[in-house]
Amino acid sequence: MKKIKRMAILMLPTVMFMCHGMAEATLKSAVSNFYSRNSPDTLIRLYEDPGRQEWQKPMQVVDLLSVKPGDAVADIGAGTGYFSVLFAKKTGDSGMVYAVDIDRNMVEYVKQRAEREGLSNLRAILAKADDPMLAEDSTDLVFICNTYMFIEDRESYLARLKDAIKKNGRLVIISYNLIDSPEGPPIHTRISKKITVSEVEKAGFVLEKEHFILPYQHFLIFTRRD
Ligand SMILES: C[S@@+](CC[C@H](N)C(=O)[O-])C[C@H]1O[C@@H](n2cnc3c(N)ncnc32)[C@H](O)[C@@H]1O
Repeated sequence: MKKIKRMAILMLPTVMFMCHGMAEATLKSAVSNFYSRNSPDTLIRLYEDPGRQEWQKPMQVVDLLSVKPGDAVADIGAGTGYFSVLFAKKTGDSGMVYAVDIDRNMVEYVKQRAEREGLSNLRAILAKADDPMLAEDSTDLVFICNTYMFIEDRESYLARLKDAIKKNGRLVIISYNLIDSPEGPPIHTRISKKITVSEVEKAGFVLEKEHFILPYQHFLIFTRRD
């Protein structure tokens, strides 16, 4: 039953496209409808679903990124802080994690979570859809999980991210592959690995490494080219 409900939530954008004759509708309206039709509690349950651990492997993902004490990490589209809290434990008090989101409810949730879990190095940022609101040269690692597809003007967004990433810093993108998977949004809303790599490399990054530990998603690590 729980599984069916989760699938229904994830299928909503497809249903909206089809039911309302919105074939030409932008992804933006599908996404904003999706978020406005689901209560914050529903989204929180979805992101924090314990079953997600099995295929999202958050600990393994974070361990593979070898974040050090003192590092500054930005989690773009942080949601409930599912990954941000793990990064905050790695960076320690001398580091900083920016949990960036455009959803006021998620930002508020992360603020309260940081307080509850005593993570003074976790800062929630209410950003704009076209601006992560990060200072220049402020981060060692920018992490984007299940959010790249929501960013509309990715060329200018990636340019802003590049400015925010330090010279030897990294940009990590985890997104659903264009495969039939029991988890994830409808395939037509996903962005392929090939397009992602081409967009990110065009923005001045180089694909340094790829991990293959996730069954439904690609896991790409880029570094700044200059
Ligand atoms: C599917 S959730 C992923 C949450 C989290 N990364 C995770 O893996 O649990 C996508 C999140 O991205 C946020 N989002 C969508 N567009 C965004 C944008 N342009 N900038 C920042 N956050 C955005 C949404 O509000 C939502 O919280």
